[in-house]
Amino acid sequence: MRKKAQPLSSLPRADLEISIQLERRSGTALHLQLATQLRQAIASGRLQAGSRIPSSRQLAATLGIDRNLVVVAYDMLLSEGYLLGKLGSGTFVTHERIMASAEVKPERGGPHRWVRTQPEESSPSPQPSIAFELGRPSLAELDQGAWRGIWRQVGATALSGGYGDPQGYLELRGALAQYLGRSRGLRCSPADILITSGCIQAAQLVARATLGPRDSIAFEEPGYPLVRSAFESLAPILPIPVDGDGLRVDHLPTGKAAPLLVYCTPSHQYPLGSRLSIPRRLALLEWARTHDCLIVEDDYDGEFRFETAPLPALAALGRDCTVYLGTFSKTIAPSLRVGYVVAPSALLDSLIELKAQSDYHTSLPTQMALARFIEGGHFERHIRRMRRVYAAKRQALLEALEPVQHLAPLSGLEAGLHAHLELPPSISAAEAAQQAHMLGIGVSTLEPYFRGPVRTNGLLLGYGGLSEQEIRAGGRKLVRVLLGRG
Ligand SMILES: Cc1ncc(COP(=O)(O)O)c(C=O)c1O
Repeated sequence: MRKKAQPLSSLPRADLEISIQLERRSGTALHLQLATQLRQAIASGRLQAGSRIPSSRQLAATLGIDRNLVVVAYDMLLSEGYLLGKLGSGTFVTHERIMASAEVKPERGGPHRWVRTQPEESSPSPQPSIAFELGRPSLAELDQGAWRGIWRQVGATALSGGYGDPQGYLELRGALAQYLGRSRGLRCSPADILITSGCIQAAQLVARATLGPRDSIAFEEPGYPLVRSAFESLAPILPIPVDGDGLRVDHLPTGKAAPLLVYCTPSHQYPLGSRLSIPRRLALLEWARTHDCLIVEDDYDGEFRFETAPLPALAALGRDCTVYLGTFSKTIAPSLRVGYVVAPSALLDSLIELKAQSDYHTSLPTQMALARFIEGGHFERHIRRMRRVYAAKRQALLEALEPVQHLAPLSGLEAGLHAHLELPPSISAAEAAQQAHMLGIGVSTLEPYFRGPVRTNGLLLGYGGLSEQEIRAGGRKLVRVLLGRG
């Protein structure tokens, strides 16, 4: 039983002449207070190296606290190297030499050789109350009963003490192979799939597995900056323009100048939103086969399409020359950090090896939960539900911006969770975004998406994570800005 509390005061022992003051009402747990004070006493030399400290029983009695609290505090200091346990003779303050190196030194000011200089950040501006944020899905509609039930099941299975398969959990690969066949017409087997920690990691693995010193990468312009900067550190980037039919395949270099990789987002060009037309898809595949190049197809939000029939994935038309990247970031949530790759067999082994070098494998419990979510039919049910939800949000956006359609048409609405608001030359995108911001509305300009000069005047509006009400309210304010009444 716990002893009745006495005033917590000093330690009377001769071999531990420091005072410990524990504050019961401080909000910091007693064992943490005790550990901190002992640590400070050791670091400052008040408790000398080599001195024996009282047993946990003695100290608990002196301080009038539960012995377990002292045991936990001692364990912390033992594991941090401040204390040393000697079998049969007690616990001692660690030898001086080790202590000196363990002492916390204040950080030396820069510059350091190992800190790369970053561009100066402008001071952060306040968060807008309605942010048309790109890449944000809605989670309010996720079937919480099913989701939590699956995590309870996963939690009830014993956690593996070893590593899993770097290629990914077999059941998840199996569930994905079937799903991709049904939903994207992509015929593949679990053996063709690698599970990754998202598309960005997948793109990096592909680049590292394939690029040699003289190779280059064709990249959509404008395009996805995160993948582009990951590629940029590995090979020169060739920006290829996009139009209403997606990547301008006719701008791809040919002959000796042909790049090794072509990265594209055919289902919903990121960020402008067009779909790669069927003739362009066929032309791209032919170009890739002619030049023995690899297409990197990023299908980040292709599950959500509206009022149009799905177009076949490039990988479904040409598995031989396409590596397909999929992700749960839009279909469920980006915080899961799970994606998948369907790769030509000649590439797969190198990808698996690099995945193992990178982080061995993606979290196994998360992979198990996703496998069950798909196998139980919840995943496709969720996607069907979300198609309806996003269609209603998209409609709300169209209606809210109707008054400026003659001036600033919306495009890129056939798929995905964001749209492009094309602006006339008379309206500066940066100024419109700034004015919207002052009204509490967050919208994105196109600058970060262009590697070269910005050739499109417009704003990007992500609507997936907003409610219909927020979309209408935000849209109304945006109309005021664009009509010059902001
Ligand atoms: C073009 C593109 N690819 C991929 C992703 C997602 O990457 P990840 O699967 O690493 O979350 C995004 C997210 O916004 C994206 O815009």
